[in-house]
Amino acid sequence: NCDDIKDKNIFMIGFMGTGKTTISNALGYITGMPVVDIDKYIEEQENMSISDIFEKNGEEYFRKLETKALEEMQINAGKIVSCGGGVVLKDENIEIMKEGGRTVLLTAEPKTIYDRICENKDRPLLNNHMTVEYIEKMIADREKRYQKAAQVSIATDGKSRVEICGEILERI
Ligand code: S3P
Repeated sequence: NCDDIKDKNIFMIGFMGTGKTTISNALGYITGMPVVDIDKYIEEQENMSISDIFEKNGEEYFRKLETKALEEMQINAGKIVSCGGGVVLKDENIEIMKEGGRTVLLTAEPKTIYDRICENKDRPLLNNHMTVEYIEKMIADREKRYQKAAQVSIATDGKSRVEICGEILERI
């Protein structure tokens, strides 16, 4: 019975390739909570892909859209919100998430992330830097911010979706 968690948003955060989209969808299936993916939400609002937004308007512009989208998630709270990996880069975003709900950080080893990203969608920030070392460095640069934003932190390496969701529901 997960009725006591359904009053607030659950923000799924973590580096690219840690499984935010997959786990958000699985968690939505298990709890019956609606799932919103911030990147997809922005793409629909702008009618442009994330890569095109980065290319045409730059990262700064994308970050503004990201904060606006995050604020809009407070309308009809009670959703699972899958965030972009860079959502923790602004203090303002961390405040919005912590005030508006619970935050779950997913983590994975750089090599795991590398393997997952290789077979997945396109990421403007990694397109020209696809090495394990670069991923490692980028995670290190962001680590403090992920920790600051996270209420619960869950390592995903070698675990199934069901195991990860179970852990989240137990610890949230
Ligand atoms: C970003 C992560 C991406 C997307 C954008 C920037 C980041 O989301 O928002 O490319 O700065 O880490 P995913 O984590 O879903 O790939």
